[in-house]
This record gives sequence, C-alpha cells and structure tokens, in this order.
Amino acid sequence: MGRIGIMAALHDEISSLLEAMGPDAERTRVGRRDYYTGAIHGREVVVVLARVGKVAAAATAVTLIREFDARVVVFAGLAGAVARDVAVGDVVVATALLQHDLDASPLFPCYEVPLLERSRFDADRATSERLSLAAREYLAEVLPRQVPADTLAAFGVADPRVHRGVIISGDRFVGCGAAVRGLRDELPDALCVEMEGAAVAQICYEYDVPCAVVRTISDRADDEASASFSGFLSRVARYYSAGILERFLTMAW
Ligand code: ADE
Repeated sequence: MGRIGIMAALHDEISSLLEAMGPDAERTRVGRRDYYTGAIHGREVVVVLARVGKVAAAATAVTLIREFDARVVVFAGLAGAVARDVAVGDVVVATALLQHDLDASPLFPCYEVPLLERSRFDADRATSERLSLAAREYLAEVLPRQVPADTLAAFGVADPRVHRGVIISGDRFVGCGAAVRGLRDELPDALCVEMEGAAVAQICYEYDVPCAVVRTISDRADDEASASFSGFLSRVARYYSAGILERFLTMAW
C-alpha cells in the first residue's frame, strides 16, 4: 500500500496521533512544517500539521506526495455543519469536495477550477469506506468511554452519526447564519464546510494519488460557530481525529 500521508490543520487534531508514533518518529522540516515519518500499528505513515486554509493545505499535500512518497493522503479535522441533518459531534466522510469560494465567472462556470474543467474532486472510494467504518466503530465503541458524558452533553452530542457526501472548502471561517444559509441554498448537497479539503483533493487529482477527508462537526457555521468551534477543539477534537485514524490504520487492506 505504501506510505500513508496524514494531514490536519490544527495541532489538537493530530497531537494524540503524534504520541502514538512514539519517540522513533523522525522529524523533517520542509517549508516551515514538520513532517513526522514512522509507523502507527505497523503501518508506515507521515503525519504533518498543514496549518489553516487552502494554500497551506495544497502546499503540504504536494510535499507529502513529492518529498515523502505518500501513496494515499488522508485529511482529518473539524468542520461546520451545512446540511440541516448534520449535528455537532457527527462525522462526515467526503465522497467529493468543492471550493465554495472559487468563482472565475463569467470566464468559467462558478466553482470550476479554471483549465481543469471540473469543480468537484472525488475522494477515493475504498479509503473513504474504511474511514467511515472506522468512524462508526469509534462513535459506537470508544467515544462514550473516552469523553465524559457531561462534556458531550454540553455540546449537544447525543447519538452521533457518520455521514457520506459532499464537503465544501473555502478560505473563510463560516460563522454567521446568513452565510451558512447562502451556502445551503447555493450548494444543496453540501454536508459541511471547512477550509482545506477541496484543495487537497485537487492536488491529489492532479498527481493521481488517492485521497480521503474525514471531518468531525464542531459547530453549525452560524452565529455561535466560533464559540462552539473553540470549545470543541480544546475539549473533544483530539479524541475524535486520533481515535478514528488509529482505528483506520489497524484495518486490513
Ligand atoms: N472548521 C470548523 N468549523 C468551520 C466553519 N464554521 N467554517 C469553516 N471551517 C470550519
């Protein structure tokens, strides 16, 4: 299968994963980022903190592929809910990704990546199925033991679910009711919004490398989004990403 590239935007999202790599992980600095190569559950990985936004994510994905020979790229992190039936604490695994802030119209159709003739980039089906399974197992078996019930209740997490569908990305934290309603109207099949996934998916498409994106919902992208996001990040996020990814890495393929 080759080396798996694992990316996140924020430190809390991969801190536990770096711990799981242990002291043998090798750190290499490229373009102001630290890439940690090593193994988790016997699987070769390279883990990197990409930082926030599409440019950061795209640059990191290229480095993972070209310098670290990643044969598949997985992005894990948080997102704001767009679809009404997606709740805080749910997990979304992308089937396809689109940049909601890309608009070169009237020269090209809105959302289309100029000269690439597409606006949506598919996630790798097999990798995404494994991630969905890992997420389902994590939610059912591990989350209730890992995170105290009152913490989950504080975020309204009662019966978290895994969704598969379209994830949209843009260089903007969406934190206002009007903005999220606008996205819902414009892109009715979007499940959640974040700031990196579609950039990674575009790079992986251009390099012919399979990619997958898994997002935990931290907020509803509405007027309360920034408070919900910050609380979720500090109290819950690190369990989800690492828990799902560790399960994913133990699966046979
Ligand atoms: N990541 C987590 N929540 C987000 C939001 N509301 N907008 C963009 N990215 C996010």
